[in-house]
Amino acid sequence: MEIKITSMDHKGNGIGKLDNKVIFVPKSITGDVCDIDIYKSYKKYDIGKINKVIKKSESRKEVLCPYFDICGGCNISNLDYIYQLKFKVDKVKNIFKKYLDLEIDPRVIGSVKEYNYRNKITYHNNNGLGLIGEYGDLVKIDKCLLVSDRVNELYNEIKKNDLSLVKLITIKECDNGLILVIDGKMDVKKIEKYCIGIYMNDKCVYKKEDGYIFVDDIKYMLSDKSFFQINTSNISNLYDEIVRYGSFSKNDRVIDLYCGVGSISLYIAKYVKSVLGIEIIDEAIKDAKMNAKNNGIDNAKFLCGDVAKLIDDNIDGDILIVDPPRVGLDKHTIDVINEKKIKKMIYVSCDPMTLVRDIKLLNNYELTNISVVDMFPQTHHVECVAKLICNDK
Ligand SMILES: C[S@@+](CC[C@H](N)C(=O)[O-])C[C@H]1O[C@@H](n2cnc3c(N)ncnc32)[C@H](O)[C@@H]1O
Repeated sequence: MEIKITSMDHKGNGIGKLDNKVIFVPKSITGDVCDIDIYKSYKKYDIGKINKVIKKSESRKEVLCPYFDICGGCNISNLDYIYQLKFKVDKVKNIFKKYLDLEIDPRVIGSVKEYNYRNKITYHNNNGLGLIGEYGDLVKIDKCLLVSDRVNELYNEIKKNDLSLVKLITIKECDNGLILVIDGKMDVKKIEKYCIGIYMNDKCVYKKEDGYIFVDDIKYMLSDKSFFQINTSNISNLYDEIVRYGSFSKNDRVIDLYCGVGSISLYIAKYVKSVLGIEIIDEAIKDAKMNAKNNGIDNAKFLCGDVAKLIDDNIDGDILIVDPPRVGLDKHTIDVINEKKIKKMIYVSCDPMTLVRDIKLLNNYELTNISVVDMFPQTHHVECVAKLICNDK
């Protein structure tokens, strides 16, 4: 069946119509004309599978990855990069219009690197190592274009070993080398030379040196468990948006909720009077304190615990930064933020759906600016930085 793709959904699937029924066609893009088969049929819509792209959209580019058709990871890597950015901005605009009835005009900041940007990748083992594909099955790959050559090299060396007792393997790339995190058991003797550290079932079994990543002039030490932004090349662009929206001064006392290893706190510390970071993972807080000390920063303090529990007693400041996980803010945290009426708030979000939900609930605040910073090229994922001002002072 021939179908013209006229738009794309939030997950990057092409959308067209046949006999007035909506068809979602994964891996197609606006402007394509495709020959498809119906893969799944529902009452209100169908899902199609491409047999052939009959006419290519002008936004198309050559797909570099041989696993594109079976691996769900880089699902918009058939879009030219400039159109990937347009897709992301349109997606955020549509979500704000639909759920908040707001017309927005986001600033857009592309990624420094379009490939080889990921500093972390997790492989699954099921009679061989690979990535989980879009249909939930294991895709056995030789290389992934989102990570560096040295990560691909280590991955291929790991595959030569007996992996029968291994569940998951994560490789983290630091500036000074690779950290391997193994869930399961294996002999690591032959792969030690490729790593600066190896952790097996949460225990360090090999250490040459600690891993670190520089973002501008700040050196961040990373432990095996702590969260760190995935796209090393674009972290300073993301944090510079926070600095821009913060318009910080030396009198400002800043609160940084969901602070991870203190990445944002330490980046902005030089512009402000003080920063207080709060984070639930103990190791991350240990890293944050060590990172403050190693970088000679003495105006950043960190607390370990659940934001929802610590917020009542620790929300005394001039500017609030929140960078929650995908699920967004919890109800109690939103209530306290509304009540405390801190004059300026910067919300860093990796999910625009929970961002709009929370903005709607933050009824003492008004959105004044928003940026889309591309931390995930080749994928439909979006990172936003939003500035909100308290409208009830
Ligand atoms: C998106 S990351 C942001 C980290 C940091 N701001 C950065 O840029 O690297 C979210 C962080 O929130 C932490 N987190 C998740 N739930 C939390 C909670 N209830 N209370 C405190 N921290 C939490 C996670 O461990 C993670 O480090």
